[in-house]
Amino acid sequence: MFGQAERVIELKRLKSESDINSDVKTFAFTSGKGGTGKTFLSLNIGYALSLHFKVLIIDLDPNLSNANIMINEIPKKTIYNFYSGQNLLEELITEYTPNLHFIFGDSGKLEYGKKRYGSTDQLFNQIKKLQHKYDFILFDTGSGAGDEIISILKKSDVNIIVTSPEPTAVMDAYVMIKLLNGNNYSGKKAILINKCSDEEEGQTTFKNLELAVSHFLNEKLFLLGMINSDKSVTQSIIAQNLLLKNSPSSNAAKQIFKISDQINEFAHVANILQI
Ligand SMILES: Nc1ncnc2c1ncn2[C@@H]1O[C@H](COP(=O)(O)OP(=O)(O)OP(=O)(O)O)[C@@H](O)[C@H]1O
Ligand SMILES: [Mg+2]
Repeated sequence: MFGQAERVIELKRLKSESDINSDVKTFAFTSGKGGTGKTFLSLNIGYALSLHFKVLIIDLDPNLSNANIMINEIPKKTIYNFYSGQNLLEELITEYTPNLHFIFGDSGKLEYGKKRYGSTDQLFNQIKKLQHKYDFILFDTGSGAGDEIISILKKSDVNIIVTSPEPTAVMDAYVMIKLLNGNNYSGKKAILINKCSDEEEGQTTFKNLELAVSHFLNEKLFLLGMINSDKSVTQSIIAQNLLLKNSPSSNAAKQIFKISDQINEFAHVANILQI
């Protein structure tokens, strides 16, 4: 039996033997409904991945970005500097740790979605130039399903759709999947169920979503993992610290470590099989 580390080494060896050059690297956290945990999860999953890999997190919430507040960082430059034509994307990188880099978003510049120089295409052209430096690039996106968000999701290798057990959040997750399909999204999708009261509630939530998606959209869903509703999450946010640093032995932290292993495996398998 391979352990996680051996599996990754083996997958990397297989990959180096193949002549595949289209890496699965960009992961967008999306939901439709606000407040499902996209920012909290992208930060903590990114941190977990950065313990073994090089990770870049880009806050692409155009309106109320708050990734930097969650980790108590005051960015010198933000993605606004890119959208307003002042800087290249690579000039906006903050090195939070040697392995975990950020491009922070901006708050209070609600107009920059409209009045700007850099388009989503230009953004992704610049992301492509940065790709060789990173193993994983995570996008924290805002809620809703506007053109801006859809254009980002369409260009991401993997969409991680975050929902909670609330029926409204499940419905919005379904709508996001439908919209992605309607926009000819050709990448992969994975589901995260956050704020579950227990495993059973998480499984039921996934089954409900899965049933609707298989019935109406004729598609099979991949469950990436579940995270319990945990008071240590709120405590970490109030402390403006990552949960994995603040309460690494909490239930939610253990689930996030497991999910980051899953993401790693998912990416490597996808790269090798080109699925
Ligand atoms: N597993 C959890 N347990 C308890 N509380 C949680 C959990 N996940 C998220 N939360 C709470 O939900 C709130 C919203 O989380 P977060 O800001 O990450 O959501 P979001 O999807 O990024 O929201 P938005 O759509 O506004 O960007 C957090 O402030 C946190 O208090
Ligand atoms: Mg958010």
